[in-house]
Amino acid sequence: MNRTEDVDVGYVPRNQGSIGAHGAPYIFGTMKIKIRRAKPEDAVKISNSHTASIRGLCTKDYNARQIAAWSNRKADSYRKAMATGETMFVAQVGERIAGFSATRDGVIRAVYVRPRFGGRGIGKELLRAVEKAAAKAGFASVKLSSSLTAHSFYQAQGYQTLRKTEFRFRDGTPVPCINMKKRLT
Ligand SMILES: CC(C)(COP(=O)(O)OP(=O)(O)OC[C@H]1O[C@@H](n2cnc3c(N)ncnc32)[C@H](O)[C@@H]1OP(=O)(O)O)[C@@H](O)C(=O)NCCC(=O)NCCS
Repeated sequence: MNRTEDVDVGYVPRNQGSIGAHGAPYIFGTMKIKIRRAKPEDAVKISNSHTASIRGLCTKDYNARQIAAWSNRKADSYRKAMATGETMFVAQVGERIAGFSATRDGVIRAVYVRPRFGGRGIGKELLRAVEKAAAKAGFASVKLSSSLTAHSFYQAQGYQTLRKTEFRFRDGTPVPCINMKKRLT
């Protein structure tokens, strides 16, 4: 991997030594957060961060059935996604993966941050990493299907709302989401 793709967002600035979202102390208070390309061996940690983000942050907008269908992705599917051309980034804090992002074919497919690492600019940097990757791949704009939970986050990052829509998981569970678009150039 090209080292210039690594983004160092510096030291965790907020809540140093305070209590985390799930009651755990922020033991990462002086650790560096590094945004880097994901590797196949990150798959289990990516899967865990994905599940934690959905279950910890999206329950205010989605019901239990939707959360369960959304958060049951197997680790192997992230390996397969990487192997078949999805560009994925992780936010690494010490040995932990605080969140990840993914893009393929001009579509931002994921930006997820673990609840206890939220509000420190990690989501923004993960989004920036996939936008840069899409631009580098030649896309002048990117599209995404935002969760209801992340809609204002994407708006704040310059995304334009196209329309409300519905995504269906393999088991048929429908989840409302919002199609959005952003010009990169
Ligand atoms: C949305 C998400 C990725 C944001 O990650 P984060 O690391 O907490 O966000 P950041 O700290 O980078 O925030 C960046 C900016 O967006 C704002 N922001 C963050 N989450 C927001 C939200 N849900 N609504 C509105 N603004 C939000 C922050 O205040 C910050 O503003 P600033 O730049 O003016 O300070 C994270 O909350 C998440 O994983 N949500 C659940 C999963 C999800 O729905 N992902 C999207 C799937 S399509």
